[in-house]
Amino acid sequence: MSSTEDMISAMHDGLAEVSKEAGTKIPVPEAYLKATKHHLKDVQEYLDLYKKSLESPDTFWTEMSKEMLSWHQLWTGKTFEHNFDVRKGKVYSEWFKGGKLNACYNALDRHVENGHGSQIAFYCEGNDLSDDHRTVTYAEMLDQVKRLASALKKRGVRKGDVVAIYLPNIPELPISMLACARIGAIHNVVFGGFSAEALAGRILDAQCRVIITCDGVMRGNKVIELKALADAAEELVYERGDGHLVDRQIVFKRLGEDKCPVGMKPKRDEWWHEVLARADPECPVEWMDAEDPLFVLYTSGSTGKPKGLVHTTAGYILYAAVTHKYAFNYHENDVFFCTADCGWITGHSYVVYGPLLNRATSVIFEGVPTYPDASRLWQICEKYKVNQMYTAPTLIRSLMRAGDKYVSKVPRDSLRVLGTVGEPINPEAWNWFFNVGGDKRCPVVDTWWQTETGGHMIIPPPVKDFQMKPGAASFPFFGIEPVVLNEKGEELSKPCEGFLCIKRSWPGIHRTVLNDHERMEQVYFSTFKGYYMSGDGCRVDEDGYYWLTGRVDDVINVSGHRIGTAEVESSLVSHPYVAEAAVVPMPHDIKGQGIYAYVTLRDGFEPSEELRKELRQTVRVEIGAIATPDVIHWAPALPKTRSGKIMRRILRKIAEKGTQVSSEELGDISTLAEPQVVAQLIELYGK
Ligand code: WTA
Repeated sequence: MSSTEDMISAMHDGLAEVSKEAGTKIPVPEAYLKATKHHLKDVQEYLDLYKKSLESPDTFWTEMSKEMLSWHQLWTGKTFEHNFDVRKGKVYSEWFKGGKLNACYNALDRHVENGHGSQIAFYCEGNDLSDDHRTVTYAEMLDQVKRLASALKKRGVRKGDVVAIYLPNIPELPISMLACARIGAIHNVVFGGFSAEALAGRILDAQCRVIITCDGVMRGNKVIELKALADAAEELVYERGDGHLVDRQIVFKRLGEDKCPVGMKPKRDEWWHEVLARADPECPVEWMDAEDPLFVLYTSGSTGKPKGLVHTTAGYILYAAVTHKYAFNYHENDVFFCTADCGWITGHSYVVYGPLLNRATSVIFEGVPTYPDASRLWQICEKYKVNQMYTAPTLIRSLMRAGDKYVSKVPRDSLRVLGTVGEPINPEAWNWFFNVGGDKRCPVVDTWWQTETGGHMIIPPPVKDFQMKPGAASFPFFGIEPVVLNEKGEELSKPCEGFLCIKRSWPGIHRTVLNDHERMEQVYFSTFKGYYMSGDGCRVDEDGYYWLTGRVDDVINVSGHRIGTAEVESSLVSHPYVAEAAVVPMPHDIKGQGIYAYVTLRDGFEPSEELRKELRQTVRVEIGAIATPDVIHWAPALPKTRSGKIMRRILRKIAEKGTQVSSEELGDISTLAEPQVVAQLIELYGK
């Protein structure tokens, strides 16, 4: 865990960034207000609804849940109950408990029953421009889901079992998720960019017996052999898990034998198309309790291994649907495009659940946004006449760097709302997105939220009379009561800066960490008693706008993806030459943050370029390419306090400023056991 001192120092770094350009206000564009319908008349209506959501949460969420969802049976008890205070007992949240419904039914069946079966659910854009570009209708989705669901059942999957899904961003991924949801199985989607090792850890922790994967996938020009990685993961699982066996694997054929030959293990491995062709086309839905788990999704935190966050059925889907509708001003017949992979929470909530629940037509994109060149995303927008595009600041920065010509050559008349997520968006990127990407016609909706929160928490509402501030996530969403605390846990009033916490439960909050409820209480509810601690720092300005300033804990946000420093450290230390490692964030022009690793070698081993390569490869294999360190800094020793705690504050500063770091920036180093280490580290910077 980070010390308070580390947390405060991280927060100040972020604040310095945010304060640079905090003055500008830009009204939500007139052209946008005219171009589309609006759920909300103006900012006043947004604020009124927000007020209602806090003052009468029961009524507000009951109404929302009836309007947005189809219930098999309504709940009879309280709409919600929660405890956020560890001193009063177990931390929990329960929404609509006792109510019965099914997430898949809400996402598909009811739309088909209402005569919308022929509506396109997904435009599927492949990696290659010449690829087959499929469309999948709601009726086709439902047919595939039912077949897969009955096949899973036949293979022994029961309500409450966890099924691992390791697929690229193709419609078979949402189909697999919904097939699980249909029969009450819990999906555990593992991002296709994670390594066999990372997959194995997630399979074992959740005790999955069944995996859904595919032969391979193209990323740009490269073939990624997913099936081979899944096979390797299963070997690891068998070795480590006391003989825990993945005994069923369903393999979708994405590339075919020519591009990606695979071996099929008899009895275990089956082809998706054969399984579905033989499967019972009917499969009744399992009516679930509102609080039954819908999925587990692993995410990195400050300490130890990734945690399996558990989201439950009604609260999560309601929150995904409501946020999708209001944050993007989504209307019937709009075409929505979220560029995220379903392997992340953004894909769960805004490729799969939010859009399907609202019966949206959306784009699911398998490829790389800059392949074959930097105009790809805009071309997709034009090709499918996308109305709302939702992406990440890191991508915006790389497109910005590529140059305006990639944007201006493509007409983008259909665009109305631009969204971003994943990290604070710097005003420069915001302005480019707004001015160039959206031709000053589209509001930029900078959504702050987390895997833990299920859906958007703080957004700039795209409504009449709202003044956007580039770089500010702005206002809390309905039902969200954020507070800013100082290090003593005292609530501050605006203007202020401190730790962003949430004071009461909302429908989309995760309910627990799989198999480890205590860890959930420890990580989110123990630092500040009575509050959910987000792990982010923030500033609230005079107008009440929230400005996020980045993580205050040991989580690095690389291209909008969370990497736990502890994970990278333990992977580096697993190399036989390494005695110790400390990993900190460093500023990175495109990725937002990069990974900076200090490595101390065991006696008798010397630093070399070759070893650097080897260490990077170790991390790649153990976690995945996204966690590869950008810099490996050879450290004769690490700066530690007399009690042996690494002073990360110092390491962060050296990573950021290098030899230019001033003693003022380093702060007090007299408490170090060996203060001379600091000078040695600075000396070795860049070597
Ligand atoms: C960061 C992604 C500033 C933040 C949905 C958070 C942001 C972490 C924003 C969650 C934003 C996400 N402005 N920071 N608009 N959106 N973050 O779990 O540090 O992958 O805690 O969820 O990303 O990352 P996660």
